[in-house]
Amino acid sequence: MLVRKTRRPMEMLVVLAGFLALTATVDGQDQSGFISIDCGMAEGTDYNDATTSILYTSDAQFIDTGTNKSISPDLESENLPKYLSSVRAFPEGLKNCYTFKLVQGNKYLIRSVFMYGNYDSKNQAPEFGLYLNADEWDSVKLENSSDVVVKEIIHVQETNYSHVCLVNTGLGTPFISALELRLLNSTIYKTQSASLVLATRLDIGSTSNDTIRFKDDDYDRIWKPYTSSSWELVSLRYASDLLSANPFILPPRVMTTAVTPKNGSRSLELQYDPDDATKQFYVYMHFAEVEELGDGGYRNFTILLNGDFWYGPMSVQYLSPVTVYSQYTVSGTSLELSLVQANDSKFPPILNAVELYWVKEFLQSPTEQSDGEFVTFYTYLNYNSIVITRF
Ligand SMILES: *[C@@H]1O[C@H](CO)[C@@H](O)[C@H](O)[C@H]1NC(C)=O
Ligand SMILES: *[C@@H]1O[C@H](CO)[C@@H](O)[C@H](O)[C@H]1NC(C)=O
Ligand SMILES: *[C@@H]1O[C@H](CO)[C@@H](O)[C@H](O)[C@H]1NC(C)=O
Ligand SMILES: *[C@@H]1O[C@H](CO)[C@@H](O)[C@H](O)[C@H]1NC(C)=O
Ligand SMILES: *[C@@H]1O[C@H](CO)[C@@H](O)[C@H](O)[C@H]1NC(C)=O
Ligand SMILES: *[C@@H]1O[C@H](CO)[C@@H](O)[C@H](O)[C@H]1NC(C)=O
Ligand SMILES: *[C@@H]1O[C@H](CO)[C@@H](O)[C@H](O)[C@H]1NC(C)=O
Ligand SMILES: *[C@@H]1O[C@H](CO)[C@@H](O)[C@H](O)[C@H]1NC(C)=O
Repeated sequence: MLVRKTRRPMEMLVVLAGFLALTATVDGQDQSGFISIDCGMAEGTDYNDATTSILYTSDAQFIDTGTNKSISPDLESENLPKYLSSVRAFPEGLKNCYTFKLVQGNKYLIRSVFMYGNYDSKNQAPEFGLYLNADEWDSVKLENSSDVVVKEIIHVQETNYSHVCLVNTGLGTPFISALELRLLNSTIYKTQSASLVLATRLDIGSTSNDTIRFKDDDYDRIWKPYTSSSWELVSLRYASDLLSANPFILPPRVMTTAVTPKNGSRSLELQYDPDDATKQFYVYMHFAEVEELGDGGYRNFTILLNGDFWYGPMSVQYLSPVTVYSQYTVSGTSLELSLVQANDSKFPPILNAVELYWVKEFLQSPTEQSDGEFVTFYTYLNYNSIVITRF
């Protein structure tokens, strides 16, 4: 009998222990539940990021594979976050993984960041696979040396560890710039056991060009400013903490700015075109009134998705954050959200922030089928009890 000699699987593990989740309190802001790794950074040079104060740690002492490199000096700049200035590259092995010891049952936001930065002086931005445990999470395609690609997933731990892996697909050497894990409250971003891959997370009506993250956001979600010429900007002059008072703990700075339709229009339209019509999306919309509308003044509106009734009628109260999402996914070549003013409402709809995620089913996570659509509706006044409306 011929016994074929099996090659040792080309898999290398980088072990990062969970105790990296140091209970670090920086500037009075709690970073427990955070693991922040500046990949490829020299050992013993941990630092607090100048903008966010996030404490980044080197992966050096935990690593037995890969090589640490610096990006090309001409791409370094003051505006570039420090965690992008070094990378860990994996010229050897098909699959290289970082392993995190995590708590089973907990929900984590896992973010990986990539900037090629011509670290190998070859001027060839690679493309490779990104895996979570045994399953493909996404593919990473860098367009050029300065392109920054961020991949984010919200995942419930089914075991007490997680592997984040880079897989060589023959299109260049895989590398990584930074890895960030954030412990979330399990009561938010609930789905039927699937994981959520971030599509977009928008700070609607922002008048600055700044993204908002920690320390404004306790969970270090990254919010991109977004507005449109067909919208009227409305905002509160100050950022009230009341605007965070729902389980999603939205950053007051994000909720402070909002939009309504431009004069004359009764509806607010928002469109997103997925790159893949088969992807299943969850939409999270965050609302709070930021204008004092006076006695009897209120906004009532209904939300339509691709022209079909989705939720409502609903109204938002002054400084009371409300999050609306469906537990059923939507898909298509285009997702169109319309917020339509109720006939008896004096004021048009408002929108403060929106998030879109697509569902990633991992092989080991069976999906329960449910036979109806649900909207979970949190309000400030009654936020400990979650009202589930079924229709
Ligand atoms: C790579 O890591 C080693 C050990 O931490 C360090 O001495 C060296 O400076 C690093 N090289 C680069 C290019 O960052
Ligand atoms: C690099 O690629 C990104 C993404 O496609 C693009 O926005 C950017 O303009 C490109 N930069 C250069 C210098 O070509
Ligand atoms: C995970 O938990 C199991 C059972 O409690 C234990 O045997 C194993 O060592 C743990 N693994 C890690 C990576 O902590
Ligand atoms: C945002 O960026 C644009 C283009 O760079 C610039 O014209 C505008 O002044 C910036 N706005 C603010 C508020 O910084
Ligand atoms: C998670 O959210 C729930 C509901 O808002 C809250 O009761 C609970 O205290 C939160 N847990 C933590 C650890 O913050
Ligand atoms: C809004 O439209 C109404 C009627 O079309 C007009 O009378 C009013 O002046 C407009 N207001 C603003 C602020 O443009
Ligand atoms: C408008 O909103 C308020 C508060 O949610 C509600 O009591 C009222 O019934 C709504 N009106 C309509 C016409 O939906
Ligand atoms: C609002 O008014 C329009 C036109 O009169 C009518 O077609 C529509 O059904 C009304 N909507 C509601 C929710 O009553």
